[in-house]
Formats: sequence, C-alpha cells, structure tokens
Amino acid sequence: MVISEAFDLAGRAARVRSGQIGRQTLWWMGSAFAANAVLAVIVLAIFGAGNLGTVDALQTTARFSFLLFWLAYASGGLALLIGPAAKFLRRHGRDFGLAFAAAHLVHIGLVVWLCWIGATPGMGVFIFFVPPAVVLYVLALFSIPTLQQRLGRKLWTVLRTVGMTYIAYAFAKDFVRAPFGGDTPHVLRYAPFAILSVAGPVLCALSFAPSLRRYFLQSERASGKLRS
Ligand code: HEM
Repeated sequence: MVISEAFDLAGRAARVRSGQIGRQTLWWMGSAFAANAVLAVIVLAIFGAGNLGTVDALQTTARFSFLLFWLAYASGGLALLIGPAAKFLRRHGRDFGLAFAAAHLVHIGLVVWLCWIGATPGMGVFIFFVPPAVVLYVLALFSIPTLQQRLGRKLWTVLRTVGMTYIAYAFAKDFVRAPFGGDTPHVLRYAPFAILSVAGPVLCALSFAPSLRRYFLQSERASGKLRS
C-alpha cells in the first residue's frame, strides 16, 4: 500500500516532467547517437575493425551509454542530495534516458558488425544482454506520452523503475567484476563505473523519499482529522 502510493506520487511528478516531447528531445537523442558513433569510429580506426578492435569499441560505447543511463537513473536521488545544483539533471532525466536508448543503438550496431565479420559472440552473451536491450526499447516506446497515459501513472512508474533497475544490474554485472584488480588501465576502465553502478540503485531508491514523506504526512493528516 505504502509502496503503491509512493509510486503513484512519484509517477505524478514524473508525468509533469515528461509532458513535453519535442524537438529538444530529438536533439538530445541525435547528439548522443552521433557522439557514440564518433567514439566507435575512433576506436575502430585506431585498433582496426576486426574482432579485437570491435570488442574495444563495444566496451567504449557501453561506457558512454552507461553514463547517459546513469544520469537518467540516478538524477532524482542526485537532485535530492545536491539540491538546486542538480535542477538541470532532474529536468532532463527523461532526455538522458532517451539519449541512452539512441546511443546504445551504436553498441547494438557493433554487435551486428561482429556477427557480420564472423566473430559472433557466444550464446551466453545473447542470453544475458538481449533481455535488458528489449526492456530498454520497451521503456523508450512507453515514453511516448499517449502510450504512457494508456498504461496509467502508477503502472508506468513501476515499469520504469523495475526496468531501469534491471538494466542497471546488466551494467553492474560487467563493471563490478574485479574493478580494483589488475594493472592501472584495467582499474581505470572498471573502478569508476563499478562505483557508479553501486551508487545508481541507492540514488534511485532515494528519489522515492519525498513521495513516501508526502504519503506519510497525508495519511497522518487524514488520521488526525478522523480523530478530531
Ligand atoms: C541494455 C543492453 C546492454 C547492456 C547494458 C550492455 C552492456 C555492456 C557492457 C557494460 C559492456 C562492457 C564489458 C566490459 O568492458 O567488460 C558490453 C560489451 C559487450 N556487449 Fe553489451 N550491452 C547491452 C546490449 C548488448 C547486446 C544486445 C549484445 C548482443 C549480444 C551485446 C554484446 C556485447 C559484447 C559482445 C560485448 C564485448 C564483451 C567483451 O568485453 O568481450 N550487448 N556490453
């Protein structure tokens, strides 16, 4: 009951923020896609477009996508922690999410390239990564206001929170393995992302604090009225 009301209140706040879709969002998506594509091209130009270079490009594009994802996932909690300084992040949480969806197309394009050159990843990689990729694009689809309205505020907030947390888990599983072991380049490649992977769910949970507080205040007021 408490959780359901918190989702309802949080959903109302998110819907106000996501009321407008427009040219600005498309600009965010286009820029994120272009930036990740440029990164991939640079890595492929340096390390070659064979198996090794493509795996390097996959690792690079995954990290760029992750930063966008993290800003979308953690922006609510971050705004609570650092206050007005994070106003921009909070206002653009949805833009970061859609920018992540657009940027990640480059990562998926590299997987297609890897298969094309005959270096198809093992079945385990597909089993692990395809479900979060499907969740990602289902969430992107439901960010269209008309579809979102059909789903209802509460259900959308549950879907978004569970879906984003599942994607966070997929990132974390990769980044958290031995982030502080190995040589300096390995530590630099994994440790910052592992730290963000752990902080993300904590900040996401924190973003529900104001809704829970409002819920408790409302129910306290209601029970006070009943008593008087
Ligand atoms: C939301 C979906 C996805 C997420 C969160 C994700 C995440 C990641 C991450 C974090 C890495 C870097 C691994 C590292 O540096 O150790 C990576 C690399 C990779 N991803 Fe994705 N990915 C996704 C979708 C996909 C899909 C659909 C495929 C296709 C099977 C795929 C195939 C790969 C491959 C082959 C690598 C290189 C692995 C290696 O280091 O050897 N990814 N991905």
